[in-house]
Amino acid sequence: MHKYRLLLSRYFKPYLRQAAWLGALLLAGVILRLLNPQILRNFIDAASAHAAASVMLRQAGWYLVIAILIQGLSLAETWLATNIGLLATNRLRSDLARHCLGLDMSFHKQHTPGEMIERVDGDVGTLGNFFSRFVVEIAGSLVLMAGILVMMFTIDWRVGIAFSLFTALTLLLTYRLKDAAVPHYRKARQASAELFGFLEERLSGTEDVRANGAVGYVLRRFYQQSRPVLRHWATAAGVGVLSFGSAWVLFAIGAAISLALGAYLFQHGLVTIGTVFLIFRYADLLNQPLDSLIRQFQDLQQAGASAIRVLDLLALRSAIPDMGQRELPSGTALAVHCEEVAFSYPQPEGARSIAEGNEDENTAQAGEADHLLSGINFHLPPGTILGLLGRTGSGKTTLTRLLVRFYDPVQGVLRLGDAPLPELPLALLRQRIGLVTQDIQLFDASLRDNLTLFDPAIPDQRILAALAELGLLDWYGTLPQGGLNTKLEPGGSRLSAGEAQLLAFVRVFLRDPGLIILDEASSRLDPVTEARLDRAVERLLQGRTAIIIAHRLRTVQRADRILILENGRQVEYGERQALANDAGSLFARLLRTGLEEALA
Ligand SMILES: Nc1ncnc2c1ncn2[C@@H]1O[C@H](COP(=O)(O)OP(=O)(O)O)[C@@H](O)[C@H]1O
Ligand SMILES: [Mg+2]
Repeated sequence: MHKYRLLLSRYFKPYLRQAAWLGALLLAGVILRLLNPQILRNFIDAASAHAAASVMLRQAGWYLVIAILIQGLSLAETWLATNIGLLATNRLRSDLARHCLGLDMSFHKQHTPGEMIERVDGDVGTLGNFFSRFVVEIAGSLVLMAGILVMMFTIDWRVGIAFSLFTALTLLLTYRLKDAAVPHYRKARQASAELFGFLEERLSGTEDVRANGAVGYVLRRFYQQSRPVLRHWATAAGVGVLSFGSAWVLFAIGAAISLALGAYLFQHGLVTIGTVFLIFRYADLLNQPLDSLIRQFQDLQQAGASAIRVLDLLALRSAIPDMGQRELPSGTALAVHCEEVAFSYPQPEGARSIAEGNEDENTAQAGEADHLLSGINFHLPPGTILGLLGRTGSGKTTLTRLLVRFYDPVQGVLRLGDAPLPELPLALLRQRIGLVTQDIQLFDASLRDNLTLFDPAIPDQRILAALAELGLLDWYGTLPQGGLNTKLEPGGSRLSAGEAQLLAFVRVFLRDPGLIILDEASSRLDPVTEARLDRAVERLLQGRTAIIIAHRLRTVQRADRILILENGRQVEYGERQALANDAGSLFARLLRTGLEEALA
């Protein structure tokens, strides 16, 4: 219950007024529902007493008016309830989305986007009903039920007692059965989440899948993954219907009791035929709140499972605590220090427990030396450029991830300006570092939005000025009509790697960072794009500190210092000029053998 209270107070409270309206509508509906059978009774009694047609017509008219009112009320109820549900859950959705985006990279490596979607939308959707209807509907049902039972007591005390007992018994029995389907629903949801994850991954890899002729295999896996989905949903639905079915049997028994009681009372001249019908109608009406209570309890179970999952997710703290308070000078190049840094990627949970199971103290010691990166030391005064060299897999990209705090080092300290990274607010840190990765993500949006990353505060003049500064106006001129409004394809599929990188430069340039990290694409570029890139890089690096993972000689030659990595170890570090002049240095050897081949 505590968990519901938490969610309710955070997301339902702001809508209490609407909920009060909903309650009022429900109450009005209850009263009208209780009233209508009474009119029917009067009508029947009038008919059997051969009353005047005008009397009967008036009663029929009232019946009709009330029936229409009831429908109108339930329309309004549904509208309000849906609104409350969506308003509340949309807030929860956006909170969850923001929370997920704030979680660390190791979390995102372990959970697929598809799984996130199922959490942020699927589970929250289940909670929607809970927010909108649960309290109101339970209250409404209880009031209606009490109203019906009171009415039955006013008809005859025997009827009242019989149906009170019947109601209590039905509630007890269905309460017993309510959990039967829950574990099946939980399994079904999990299977769905896994299928989503699978689909998301394969669809985003569609190019590789098709190019390698793997469509058939992927489809077969898809069928295999779908099978548990079918099985669990079918079981859940079956068990659900069975427990509902028992309720329907009970309702039929209720109807039989009402008819038997009515017949008995009528034969003893205690009630009119209209009242017999009234008893029958009330017994029938009783099904409604009973049914709705059963449903709400079932939903509560599903909502409970979802609430737990949602709260678990909200309770996850990022492995990268964001508690820094320090400031950084803006608009200037920033110094970078790296002292004795060592790092290994966190192991996925399953792998970790296996590793820990076999671990004794010796291997724990060996683990230290086994870090992916270790013993990294360098220092960049403001405005200097570090060329980071090394073969594929030597840990260059990993080192840049430490600088933007996608991960924290296991040992050692990284400083920006003079502040150790954890002492800086994450937002500030990432605002002052411009990162251009090898894998540039473009969005299905206009060129403008892709450059500003949807920040409407950046005026077009500034974007155009940035394009001009980076020497891209001629490229901009070649764009199809629309200029900044040009739509980019999702994933930037129409842009070459070089063009994508140019766009990423503009992005970074607009943010005016104090440190640029450039993970140069290793693919070869056509000479025109290459010349453009060179010009843009030149301008981008002006007056900034930079770390460049370079694959091309032209870029390496911009560097003031060189750091060479091999298997995560720093094998050479020094002034570029000095290293180039020292024939025995690794760097000089690299230059002789041809950088671009050696670093491929
Ligand atoms: N997210 C990750 N989780 C675990 N291991 C990773 C991850 N990213 C890279 N690695 C591993 O770290 C090593 C260094 O990778 P990386 O830093 O990308 O090298 P480089 O950029 O020099 O090619 C590689 O062995 C790679 O398999
Ligand atoms: Mg890399």
